[in-house]
Amino acid sequence: MKQKTLADYNPFDPETLSCPYDFNQQLREQAPVYRCPHTGVFFVSTYDLVVEVVKNEKVFSNKFAMIQAGGGEIPEDPELDEIRRKGYPAVSTMLTQDPPEQRRYRALCQKPFSASRVAKLQPYIQNLANELIDDFIDDNKCNWMDAFAVPMPVRMIAYILGVPLADLALFKKWSDSNVYQFSAGQTREGLLEAARDVVDFQHYFAEKIEARKEHPSDDVLSDIVNSSADGETPMSVEECLSVLSQLLVAGNETTTATFAEGMYLLAKHPEQLTLVQNDMSLIPNMVEEMLRLSTPTTQRWRVCLEETEVGGVKIPAGSTMMVKCGSANRDEMQFAQGDVFDVTRDNLKTQIAFGKGVHFCLGAPLARQELIISFEAILSRLTNFRVDEDELKFLPSLLLHGPVDLNIEFDKR
Ligand code: HEM
Repeated sequence: MKQKTLADYNPFDPETLSCPYDFNQQLREQAPVYRCPHTGVFFVSTYDLVVEVVKNEKVFSNKFAMIQAGGGEIPEDPELDEIRRKGYPAVSTMLTQDPPEQRRYRALCQKPFSASRVAKLQPYIQNLANELIDDFIDDNKCNWMDAFAVPMPVRMIAYILGVPLADLALFKKWSDSNVYQFSAGQTREGLLEAARDVVDFQHYFAEKIEARKEHPSDDVLSDIVNSSADGETPMSVEECLSVLSQLLVAGNETTTATFAEGMYLLAKHPEQLTLVQNDMSLIPNMVEEMLRLSTPTTQRWRVCLEETEVGGVKIPAGSTMMVKCGSANRDEMQFAQGDVFDVTRDNLKTQIAFGKGVHFCLGAPLARQELIISFEAILSRLTNFRVDEDELKFLPSLLLHGPVDLNIEFDKR
């Protein structure tokens, strides 16, 4: 079969999105800054240029809330507006803001996500990981998404936000609907349903926020609601709701995707699994390598505020950019044999799955701790993972990379 050339690819095509590796390699080799002929969006794909763009928040803005999943402006929809009017007005906070406003939100949310606060969650994560494993270990097989990759992050975020177990199913649905609003392949029906869910989510948490304002308690929600770091004004209810929505969007599916792709990598590379099981102190490095290869936030939007140049290519003011973190993390100029899973790789401090610069992932300490403690539990109790590669499909998503589903078989250790 004739090899595809760059011009044959549509970057928004579901097939390219679910399997972007050849396209990304061609981009890195032939056009590190590439203007998509279909949409005019600029794609940045090499490690150095991706880092250059994400570190330059003055020129490359995160105010991308007005861009819809396909790269154009969001069309008007009175029915959608009507649903949204029943909720709280949308406010752009951290992830969809630029400094100095972004800095204020960041300062107000820092405390509950600091490494020292997150360290206190260690016993909870350990218990939860073992509890989840107990439920399927005797079957010698499981649907990894349902059994672990999905519930672990959802239950962690629910726990830190004080959501009772009885509301977990609702919380997961709201979380999915918050994510849906930013996903590719949306339908109008899907958007309407997601909007209704988001309104329900807002009313549920608005009540909790008001309660925490009146009677602060010793939990993350109280910290977020009442924080006044460095004399900053505490956030309004609308601002808190926006931040909570971002925690769900940024924190759930990303961690799920790393759990899923991480398990897939261990199944595909039994020699790496043996290395780690013979020396469990390799787990933190293994997790960084899993993050590098999976890079769940595979692409990030940016809006170019002024005419500039990246990698010798002129970018007009107002251009929409797609920053390809997933491609950067496999760039051979930065990571030798970039597609290879190597748990002993020695330059993983430079991997950028959590981004770089002012928007560096707020939840990175939490995600890392969840992944490390969970894999410690998993690899001390289970081994010899098998997956059916023919069944494995990746999400055709513009922003999130990860397996759609994953069934595994294993032996007890
Ligand atoms: C493996 C898991 C995760 C990955 C790969 C990941 C990745 C990222 C990336 C790449 C960014 C920067 C986005 C940009 O530059 O536009 C980011 C920001 C963010 N992440 Fe994460 N994330 C993960 C887990 C989490 C968790 C568990 C939370 C919280 C519960 C979280 C909360 C956030 C927030 C609030 C931001 C916005 C920070 C800002 O704009 O200042 N993330 N994340």
